[in-house]
Amino acid sequence: MIASAEVLDRVRVLRTEIERHNYAYYVLDAPTIPDAEYDRLFRELVGLEEAWPELVTAESPTQRVGAAPLQDFGQLTHGAPMLSLGNAFTDEDAENFDRRCREGLKCESVDYAVEPKFDGLAITLRYKAGRLEVGATRGDGYTGEDVTENLRTVRAIPLLLPPGAPQELEVRGEVLMYKRDFARLNARQRDAGEKEFANPRNAAAGSLRQLDSRITAQRPLRFFAYGVASPEALPHLTTHAALMDALMSWGFPVSPDRAVVRGATGLLAFYRRIGEKRAALPYEIDGVVYKVNAFAAQAALGFVSRAPRFAIAHKFPAEEALTELIDIDVQVGRTGAITPVARLKPVFVGGVTVTNATLHNEDEIRRKDVRLGDTVIVRRAGDVIPE
Ligand code: IVH
Repeated sequence: MIASAEVLDRVRVLRTEIERHNYAYYVLDAPTIPDAEYDRLFRELVGLEEAWPELVTAESPTQRVGAAPLQDFGQLTHGAPMLSLGNAFTDEDAENFDRRCREGLKCESVDYAVEPKFDGLAITLRYKAGRLEVGATRGDGYTGEDVTENLRTVRAIPLLLPPGAPQELEVRGEVLMYKRDFARLNARQRDAGEKEFANPRNAAAGSLRQLDSRITAQRPLRFFAYGVASPEALPHLTTHAALMDALMSWGFPVSPDRAVVRGATGLLAFYRRIGEKRAALPYEIDGVVYKVNAFAAQAALGFVSRAPRFAIAHKFPAEEALTELIDIDVQVGRTGAITPVARLKPVFVGGVTVTNATLHNEDEIRRKDVRLGDTVIVRRAGDVIPE
């Protein structure tokens, strides 16, 4: 029996509704319905697709649950190479970047599109006829791993582009895990007696590189777009800022903290503003990225070896470093509470030298199985006490 017009219609309505809620939740960060209601819509769609399997399409939201495990990942050659960025570590490095841009463009002042530097994994998404065709990791910059099945499970990644979006498009961005989702995942791993991840970046990488995409589907991965492979293929968009707005209108999550600033003063003010906000952001960042805003100016500046001359990453001080555990002391608080404190070989992390870290309690020491002489990871986030 073939599906009636009524069923077809209901399937279409459910898919639109579910993707609209995915969009509100994962892209706008503003959920529109309670989880239970979402689950109800989802189960109804699953029921209809089970009854009429011929209605299942690759872009149905029900297909975001993962597919049969692969033997290994295939290789994909990128449409345009995925380059890396040069780094700036000091104000002077950022000022020199601005000076080189001004000199290269022979102009008085340059406008920059500026945004956070997401601490995740670079990926590329290729759309054909408005459908997600393939997605890959960066790999060596020219060829990456085909992780399409895994990327399909990431709800922030659109499977279908809306009418009006270019039908051929290669979007570049970063897959990452929110700090709170990472903490929950690690608690789940711990309860299940599984290995915990060192940080959100490792958790995102480990989740994306699963040969079994059904496992990836259970990991809370997010995505942010920060560019396209070939801006010249979109001639009506003349600046990076306009491209980011367009990507947002096509359903891609982009950073709400992006801005356009002028000159080195603008760059450094942005660096400081995001630095102050860093600890409060839901995801980890390791710096900010400055890009000459006008694509014509980007093309004029071009590339040097494997990095663009028109963009640079201005890094924040590292929040993690390795050091040695020298001793464990016990601190007695005013209320009599006992807190074990790790004495560490001094290490520079997050812009300060750390020599002590609280271990919270005895259980925590047992759980982490820390012993004198161990090499430990010291993490410092904003003003938070080193962990
Ligand atoms: S633009 C030509 N923008 O940083 C390269 N990259 O070394 C264009 N990254 O692995 C990259 N946030 O994945 C750009 N807002 C951002 C970024 C960003 C993170 C990563 C990127 C790449 C590395 C560049």
